[in-house]
Amino acid sequence: MKTTNKLPPIIIDTDPGHDDAMAIMLLIKSKLFDVKAITTVAGNVKIQDVTNNARYVLDLLESDVPIYSGETRPLKRQPVIAQVHGNGGLAGANITKTEKLNHEAVNQIIRIVRENPHEVSIVVIGPETNIARAFIKDPELPKIVKQLVIMGGTIEAPGNKGSVAEFNIFCDPEAAKIVFDSEVKIILNPLDVANHMPMFLEEFEKLKGSKLYQPIISMMTHFIKGIEKFELTKGALMYDPLVAYYLVNPKAYKLTNMEVHVETKGEYTYGMTVVDRRTWGEKNPNVSVITSIDRKSFVNDFVKIIRS
Ligand code: RIB
Ligand code: CA
Repeated sequence: MKTTNKLPPIIIDTDPGHDDAMAIMLLIKSKLFDVKAITTVAGNVKIQDVTNNARYVLDLLESDVPIYSGETRPLKRQPVIAQVHGNGGLAGANITKTEKLNHEAVNQIIRIVRENPHEVSIVVIGPETNIARAFIKDPELPKIVKQLVIMGGTIEAPGNKGSVAEFNIFCDPEAAKIVFDSEVKIILNPLDVANHMPMFLEEFEKLKGSKLYQPIISMMTHFIKGIEKFELTKGALMYDPLVAYYLVNPKAYKLTNMEVHVETKGEYTYGMTVVDRRTWGEKNPNVSVITSIDRKSFVNDFVKIIRS
């Protein structure tokens, strides 16, 4: 049997964002993956800013992974932006370059998946707009993507963008509905688990000596201030790195299959992930939901990988 030393191909679809930046660093520094592309999507901030921020992170990593900019606005609703990341989306980072927007994200997602059928995991850590557009353009795609590993939604936790919706889903509920109602395999990291796993500055201090230490401390100091101001939580909420880490060490995770649908019609529930939690009756589970993550493994591996 011919063994291959080919690294598993992945795409990171993202709206940097401080936690996105940590997720990108974790995946690339791990050297465990053939990172085919960073595809950017409007979310935390506008497409030009998220794309500039992606360039900043790749330059810090001295990485030649290509950046393909994507959708500039949601499928239907008016755009919303986040507050916790600051005006440019990466407060504390010294953004000096304006990355040229090539609007190629959707085409490149389709190309990469078709060139590597059933092998590509897409790490979806912003709104699902690019993914939905790719599924609309190529209806076969959900069958040939290996899996989507998504940060989004809530199961029982309150929303972080309004009372019931999580930000990524709230940004583009129609896109999320297309993705969740497709037959693609989804691993979902909702707010529920990540809310209780912030990282603290003293843990980031363990990066001292790494050339990424100073920029990470600067970004995380600003991020933590933003979180405390707008979400009253102590520490850096590591939503996106906790999705990325699933690909690094799935053994650190417990998952449960659930039936999850996205509300697109509700006056008070627009963007809510509606979960069938009844313990009786017929179920049509469409999502593997992360219900616990080994925090010690995550923090230890995060520090080890970023320092490597
Ligand atoms: O709700 C958390 C999500 O929204 C994260 O992906 C964060 O980066 C923001 O985009
Ligand atoms: Ca994000």
